[in-house]
Amino acid sequence: MKSAATLSGSHRGRPGARARLWPCATLALLLAGCGEEHLRKYPQTTFHPTTEFARISDWLFWLSLGLGVGVGVLVLGIMGYFLWKFRYHPGAGEPKQIHGNTRLEVAWTLIPAVILAVIAIPTVKAIFATQPDPARLPANTVTIEVVGKQWWWEFRYPQPNGDTVVTANEVHVPVGRTVHLVLLSDNVLHSFWVPQMGGKRDLITNRVNHLVFTPEEPGVYFGQCAEFCGTSHSLMRMRLVAHTQAGYDQWLANEARPAVEPLPGDSAVALGKQMVTTGACVACHTIEGTPMTMRTGPNLTHFGRRRTLAAGIMENNAENLRRWITNAPSVKPGSKMPPMGEHVGGSLTDQQITYIIAYLQSLQ
Ligand code: CUA
Repeated sequence: MKSAATLSGSHRGRPGARARLWPCATLALLLAGCGEEHLRKYPQTTFHPTTEFARISDWLFWLSLGLGVGVGVLVLGIMGYFLWKFRYHPGAGEPKQIHGNTRLEVAWTLIPAVILAVIAIPTVKAIFATQPDPARLPANTVTIEVVGKQWWWEFRYPQPNGDTVVTANEVHVPVGRTVHLVLLSDNVLHSFWVPQMGGKRDLITNRVNHLVFTPEEPGVYFGQCAEFCGTSHSLMRMRLVAHTQAGYDQWLANEARPAVEPLPGDSAVALGKQMVTTGACVACHTIEGTPMTMRTGPNLTHFGRRRTLAAGIMENNAENLRRWITNAPSVKPGSKMPPMGEHVGGSLTDQQITYIIAYLQSLQ
């Protein structure tokens, strides 16, 4: 399964693939039978490709699986037949001993070579098909910089006017246009993976990687980091939101605006704003339109609009936000955000956290 989804860079290789095929085949057949129900239950799936890239990966998976199952059935079948045919008979004596058979040896060298070629040719074609030259993409390509962090994602949208729209953990794209992700890391290795969009690709500290695909269907797609990057690697998730062009334009125009100001008379939000923009949050976060400009933590300018919290691990609601602000490391082990609640060594009272939640939720 992994080799089909991983089309980039070095390979974990196919040797031993045959041994893994039986459980894999059973699982795949079970999953493939479930259709939409499977997608609802397991949204982070490679079995519902929605881009050309993902379809190519999917096809390679089924091709290698089919050939592997064919070889497996044949070999085990022949073995079973001989076990039965030459089983022990009382008084049968020793069977006739033979040594060497050129025709057989040529056959069992050639047949696997042909099978490997049948897998290798489409694999090599797929590598080229899914790695276009970033300098030769269509003129209306959407370019997004993706920065892997411990343990969240920063998404940066360079704008024609020189500004950059920055968001986190939720990457928005239009359907029908080429999306070009420029993958970077300023810390350790990560790997961008939204299976329905295509294969995994690493984010590396000393080189820039590229991932190119064209979303076809509007929707919310699940993804996560696919390269071990420390304590909370498995909690480094994300959503990819594919919009119609109009929906995307609307989203981007809103993201490009500075943060929403508290409404006159909404004192909880105004108090929350004061706490956020003058308190500890200033040390790590940016909120456009306020004095906050740090990039250690996610940009919060339109935080209230995000579906999830803490890199896709929980729904963005007041209750989860309180858990997160009070004691982030209890939710995400190793989190660089320290516990803020006064019961756990921080400086914020429950009431102050209530105001902060009100302000963060107002950032639409
Ligand atoms: Cu980032 Cu694993």
